[in-house]
Parts: sequence; C-alpha cells; structure tokens
Amino acid sequence: MFEVKKYKENKEENYELVIKQLHALIEGEKNDIANLANAAALLNQFLDYINWVGFYLTDHPHDELVLGPFQGLPACVRIPFGKGVCGTAAKQNKTIRVADVHQFPGHIACDAVTQSEIVIPLVKNNKVIGVLDIDSPIKNRFNEQDEKFLEKFTRKLEEAFAM
Ligand code: SME
Repeated sequence: MFEVKKYKENKEENYELVIKQLHALIEGEKNDIANLANAAALLNQFLDYINWVGFYLTDHPHDELVLGPFQGLPACVRIPFGKGVCGTAAKQNKTIRVADVHQFPGHIACDAVTQSEIVIPLVKNNKVIGVLDIDSPIKNRFNEQDEKFLEKFTRKLEEAFAM
C-alpha cells in the first residue's frame, strides 16, 4: 500500500523523498505504462498548484508525441514534434519552462486554466522517448529548483524504461 507522507517545509528534502518514493514504486517492475502511471499519480499528490501532470510518448514512425499516462482533464492525443511546448521540448531534447503560456507562440491549450508549464524530455540511448508535462493554473509556478529536481525524477524514471 502506498503510504502518503507528510511533506515538510523544505522543498529540497521533499523532492528527495519523492524521488525515493518513485524508486520504491518502480523497482523491479518492467512495465513502462504501469511505471509512468504511478509516476504521474505520485507527482499529482505531491505537487501543489498543478492542474495536469503526465506523459506524452514518442510515436516513432510519425515523428509525433502520443498521450500516455496522466492525471488531470482529458487532453489532446497527438502533438507533432516541434509543436506546442511538449513538441518543442521533444524536438530540441531540452527542458522548457514557460512562466506564462500565453506568451509561448504555438502553445496548445488543452485546459483553459493552464497559466504556466514545464516540459522535460525522457531520453533513452540518446533518443527522446517521450516527455513529462506539468501544467499549473498559476503563472510562474516552476522555478530553477523545480526544474533541477523534476529532471532528477525523470532520470530515475528513464533508468527503469524498457520501451
Ligand atoms: N500544453 C501542452 C499541450 C499538452 S496539454 O497541456 C496536456 C503544449 O503546448 O505542448
């Protein structure tokens, strides 16, 4: 059974705890969809001020992303590489933090409440296999510290990836 921990004031300690929780959840499990589903649920109960968290996975023959496990409202199913924040992060293989989505040309609005977002590519054997996308209903939700620890979270997830 998953034990809901009381997260404390110290953001860094909390992120480290969540990364340990992720490790415990995915250790020994080879099914990528199950691991991504638990990773999305874990982040959803940990992060405050978010309205969507989940994954888009690379659909190789089409050079596009397709919706994977997530928590939040139903979302757009396919995003071409290079489109929106997710497609841009996937194409450039680089984390993108957007303080105000209305200022990001081509942002794809799946949920009208979204104001800011962070997208982190998932990489295996130098190939982008998908992205972690987190949306917030407030502007400027994600800072450098969030980026650092969410990237660490993503690296842990990639280690387990079989796909
Ligand atoms: N905001 C994303 C689209 C995906 S939804 O937010 C779930 C984007 O512009 O790439």
